[in-house]
Amino acid sequence: MGSRIEVDASRIECEINPMIYGHFIENMARCIYGGLLENERPGRARGPWKVREDIVDWTSELRPPVLRWPGGLYADGYFWRDGIGPRDARPLRRNRYWSRYGPFTSVLDHNWFGTDEFMEFSDRLGAEPYVNVNFGTGSAAEAARWVEYMNGDGETVEGERRASNGHPEPWQVRYWGIGNEMYGVWALGHSGPLDYARRYLEFRDAMAEVDPGLRYVAVGADHYFSKTWNREVLSGAEGRMDLLSIHIYLPGMERVLGVAATRGLRGGSAMYQAIVAAPLEFERRLELAAEDIRAVMGDDSDIGIALDEWNLWWKPSQLLVPHWTLRDALFICGMFHCMHRCAETVRMGNIAQLVNVLGVMSTAGARSYRSPLYYAFLLYRRHGHPMRLHTRVECDDFESPRLGGIPSMRSVPFLDCSATLSTDGSKLTLFVINRNLSEEVRASVSLDGFTPAGVTGVHCLNGPGEGAANWYGRDKTVMVESSEADVGDVLPEYRFPAHSVTALAFEQ
Ligand code: AHR
Repeated sequence: MGSRIEVDASRIECEINPMIYGHFIENMARCIYGGLLENERPGRARGPWKVREDIVDWTSELRPPVLRWPGGLYADGYFWRDGIGPRDARPLRRNRYWSRYGPFTSVLDHNWFGTDEFMEFSDRLGAEPYVNVNFGTGSAAEAARWVEYMNGDGETVEGERRASNGHPEPWQVRYWGIGNEMYGVWALGHSGPLDYARRYLEFRDAMAEVDPGLRYVAVGADHYFSKTWNREVLSGAEGRMDLLSIHIYLPGMERVLGVAATRGLRGGSAMYQAIVAAPLEFERRLELAAEDIRAVMGDDSDIGIALDEWNLWWKPSQLLVPHWTLRDALFICGMFHCMHRCAETVRMGNIAQLVNVLGVMSTAGARSYRSPLYYAFLLYRRHGHPMRLHTRVECDDFESPRLGGIPSMRSVPFLDCSATLSTDGSKLTLFVINRNLSEEVRASVSLDGFTPAGVTGVHCLNGPGEGAANWYGRDKTVMVESSEADVGDVLPEYRFPAHSVTALAFEQ
């Protein structure tokens, strides 16, 4: 079949919330201590620790719109008062959640990186802070005091404390998560949906009393874990939340044997096909959560979804050495297209996690590198625009095999496209993923209602093969190459290289 891509610039379908390109940091394994921070006196738990400038610089280039902290599962064992005031006086504790898994996921809690350090870091990056309170082992009163510490003026008890800790101006944190994965037996404070909803309201109301302008994220569940949780929480909490949190990792750690079997029996290309098709399974699951919201709150409900943990994950060692390849970067770009298509409800996304733990960047001692995932973020952050345009694609497709929690799929299109337009209508970027492992795809491209002038930016994420990866000292094996082309060389037909993502950036 001849491939065709048709973009209609006169049909703006939806605004894409930039917060879908968000990040997440947690005191788990070496994400914060040993990732974001380096120990100036290695071996001494109390540090001093300092923020790594290479990680800050690279993260800044991604212009993270939102940063979630302190967890994750860690948040439900975290007492915020441990992490404020003079660092030498802060307690050194066992990590209440992750220490149960031993040194692998981190035993000690240095409390060096606390509230003010997180806020300074978010400020430096220009990221909207998103804080998850301790619902599991904490109380509504403690959460409310934390809001006061963050947002209260100098006249309040906690606001004064913040000022005496060197920050006279309120931090003004708008986004607050109440609980994390409470549907799971593994979570501290695990409960049924109605108990969760009841306590959620206690927390919410106590926090709202301190600051009525907050936005709340309540715990939702992917249908893989519970088909009824979302509806019970939404009705139990009377819809008094702004976002419902959904976490999805595929093919799934618990499916590790299935993944090994697929790889063993069917080889690397089967794994490639399943992983690049995985965003379609995310989309199906996000649509189920959106349907839950509509069913309980009605079609006009303004409650959105925060996909505030997402990534690939199939074995424990990825928490230490993720080793992502070009294949996985194609998955990330597919996830951006998935979130573009779901933009009516998906208003936030936070990849898990920023450094080392399944991370988009990795560190080892003084060395560091950017994984292919990093370049996927860079491509969309540099060239994406806020308006989703109507796009139609005709192309060949393939059948993808089952891999753990990713089901087999019959007709996965080789091309996955998303067209975005700038607010003033002068810039249009067409992103095209070519999932074909071995062949380029020649496609006709038409832009209705947009007349590109002059040169087109051509930005291509690719590498020598689907298994190509970056590493310390060579983090450009998989990267984005940019060039310029005359419009006439790009339209009306373009050849999209095998296993690549191309951003065609037009201006009129
Ligand atoms: O991202 C790692 C962990 O995975 C998070 O703490 C938890 O919420 C999830 O299950």
